Amino acid sequence: MPDRWVLVIAAGYWQIPLIETVKRLGFRAIAIDRDPNAPGAKIADRFEIVDITDVEGAVSLANDIGVSGVVSDQTDISVPTLAKVTSALNLPGPSPEAAYNTTNKARMRELSKLAGLQNPKYRICESVDDGKRAIEEDHEDAPGGVGFPCVVKPTDSQASRGVRKVDSRKELVPAIEEAFEYTGEGRILIEEFLDGIEVTVEGCRYAGETHLLGVSTKKHTPPPHIIAMNLDFPAPFPGKTHEEIHRMYNALVKALGISAGSIHGELIVTGKGIFLVEMANRGGGSGTSSHVIPAISGVDLLEANVRFAVGDERRVERTLEKASVLRFLLFPPGKVKEIKGLKDAQNIHGVVRTDLYIKPGDELVPPVMDTQRHGYIITVGEELSEAQRVADEVERAITVTYE
Ligand SMILES: Nc1ncnc2c1ncn2[C@@H]1O[C@H](COP(=O)(O)OP(=O)(O)OP(=O)(O)O)[C@@H](O)[C@H]1O
Ligand SMILES: [Mg+2]
Repeated sequence: MPDRWVLVIAAGYWQIPLIETVKRLGFRAIAIDRDPNAPGAKIADRFEIVDITDVEGAVSLANDIGVSGVVSDQTDISVPTLAKVTSALNLPGPSPEAAYNTTNKARMRELSKLAGLQNPKYRICESVDDGKRAIEEDHEDAPGGVGFPCVVKPTDSQASRGVRKVDSRKELVPAIEEAFEYTGEGRILIEEFLDGIEVTVEGCRYAGETHLLGVSTKKHTPPPHIIAMNLDFPAPFPGKTHEEIHRMYNALVKALGISAGSIHGELIVTGKGIFLVEMANRGGGSGTSSHVIPAISGVDLLEANVRFAVGDERRVERTLEKASVLRFLLFPPGKVKEIKGLKDAQNIHGVVRTDLYIKPGDELVPPVMDTQRHGYIITVGEELSEAQRVADEVERAITVTYE
């Protein structure tokens, strides 16, 4: 039988498990990325330098090769490209509309409102002046104004770029200007700050069935820059809260028009109910879809994704009910001299995967976005406390010395 190729959009560190899945399922993997040194380039059977937002480039390459499917995961940036390329080639994928709905935070607010779900007070702003007015100006979506504290963010970015909590007028304009730096479409959102517990919802939709496979509580660095530091699966909530989260999840999947694929959402559970932060039609990043979800549910989201992409969509069935911790590592600022203990940490029982993004010689700085974190730990256990204990052990095992 001739080789069957699958195009993988993006070849970064977290696309490697997807490229490996493509190969494991008997396909040849061709990956694209604008970075010739992308770590997935060496893992794929073939690699081409094509920017992951270059739809024409990806379509022409896919046509030349005659690919059987196109996949991507764990990053929002490639989702609109994936949708456009699969539409152009008449292959299974998210619709361009679902891709837009799940990557544009202003659109998410509008759709959740249309579906009768509650939103924080919010305003979509096209200029700094719009943003300044949004705080007090009475509006249908922000009765009495958004007020302080609020969150200022680009409508169409990710990895917490340009996302800031703002407590007072003097912080407002710099935050608005920063958010405008990161928007591709030239719009930002100013939202009421939701005071509650943030959760992520991880799942998928295949064969007409929506599955919720993991719910975590997410902890961050202290504001102004909001960077995720620890996710505990399952969220330690009573059953009633889990039921409400499940209902909200199902309603959002429907409202955003997600017909198939992996799903990663972020919600905030407050005393006044559950609110959407954002929901994506892709797997959760930093190993959530590739490592955490299989470890806790037995569902191989990457395999389901690849099979769907090549027209072999199958029902998904949960077989496990375990706990996991995804924790990020941050070390103090300074120039790294030596890193010790990583190999030992990787062998600790209960570690699914742990790795560092830093190496000797690197200058560590306090992070302002997710991509500047220094490493991660993924553990599994029968109970959350066990998974947490293993993560603590890993943290103690890895040490960094400075020049
Ligand atoms: N209205 C809000 N109220 C409280 N916290 C918020 C609000 N909006 C965003 N946040 C916090 O800021 C974080 C980042 O915001 P958001 O998810 O919208 O941006 P992002 O660029 O997609 O970031 P990431 O890729 O890290 O998820 C959220 O995970 C949440 O902790
Ligand atoms: Mg987010």
